[in-house]
Amino acid sequence: MPARDRDLKPATRALHPGAKPAQQGAPIAPQPVFAAPFHLRGDPASSAYGYGRYDTPTWTAYEAALGAIENADALLFASGMAAATAVLLPALRPGDVVVLPADGYYQVRALAADHLTPRGIEVREVPTDEDAIRAALPGAALVWLETPSNPGLDTVDVRALAQAAHAEGALVAADNTLATPFGQSPLDLGADVTVVSVTKAMAGHSDLLLGYVGTRSPERHERLVRWRSLSGPIPGPFEAWLAHRSLATLDVRLQRMCATALALAEALLARDDVLAVRYPGLRGDPSHAVAARQMRLFGPVLTFTLRDAAAAQRFLDEASLVTEATSFGGAHTTAERRARWGSDGVAEGLIRVSAGLEDADDLIAAVVRALDALG
Ligand SMILES: Cc1ncc(COP(=O)(O)O)c(C=O)c1O
Repeated sequence: MPARDRDLKPATRALHPGAKPAQQGAPIAPQPVFAAPFHLRGDPASSAYGYGRYDTPTWTAYEAALGAIENADALLFASGMAAATAVLLPALRPGDVVVLPADGYYQVRALAADHLTPRGIEVREVPTDEDAIRAALPGAALVWLETPSNPGLDTVDVRALAQAAHAEGALVAADNTLATPFGQSPLDLGADVTVVSVTKAMAGHSDLLLGYVGTRSPERHERLVRWRSLSGPIPGPFEAWLAHRSLATLDVRLQRMCATALALAEALLARDDVLAVRYPGLRGDPSHAVAARQMRLFGPVLTFTLRDAAAAQRFLDEASLVTEATSFGGAHTTAERRARWGSDGVAEGLIRVSAGLEDADDLIAAVVRALDALG
């Protein structure tokens, strides 16, 4: 990337990832290309596109924009889990040690239990806590960070831990789904790999699944390209195009969602019937100091705890503008009682909320009304 472009903010780079379009009369926004085989005469190396499992112009355009934001190579996958699998499975060999967050996205632990442990890879699950992670580093080949963790919303200092992990010879991968690269840049903080589920705020409209891996190592990128080509977890061009389209509004959506998340967290904090509130953007939150050092935006996700499962479920039934659903980062405010999955070790009454794009006053009023109705 030319030096001039490196000074641009992520929102600008997302919209202007390369040179101006040269072609008179061409659309100013990228358009989807639907093709399995492309016309390919003679030497396959003579064309960038030959077959849709290897590459397709719709990925190229979106990956260029993601790469410009990350200042890295970005590679699309069919989902966040496909991206996580591409980082974990090919990198680890029998006898290796991997450090995973005990409080991060639970399917990453499930993937490790099903596919890493049986291959003789030692899995060390540790909380999102700097001392705990440091203690687990000796002998590790790969350290997986998720900060803020989901759903615990704990944070760790990526720069300090990347240094400590590199001193042990370990690769550092960071799941940056919750913050997105607009909210935080793990690669700038020293991580080797960033993994993002585009399904959440990046795509932002709750209508598709997608993921990507970013890395500044051309060799690692090439290995990931080969993994994707051989194992085939590829996104359809339509999903990739829709997600690319969403990138244009990501900055404004995130600014609004994060401001609403903070206002909602503050409103919840003021209530006696709410036992606990977690949001890294709250000044008094245990995650705030680290978050404020390394995050530009604190994310759309907060949690609060009611007295028990029944109260939490009644709240979800009552709250008019809050749709009960898993996932986060969409335009509609969603919430769920997280303990219903039985996987996160959270309180029975804990509700994870993803602040959407509704007017903040309307949303807070709806939440307050639903809490008041619980009595
Ligand atoms: C933090 C985090 N990482 C990864 C994933 C997996 O993403 P996907 O559902 O796109 O496979 C999720 C999904 O909930 C998530 O919350």
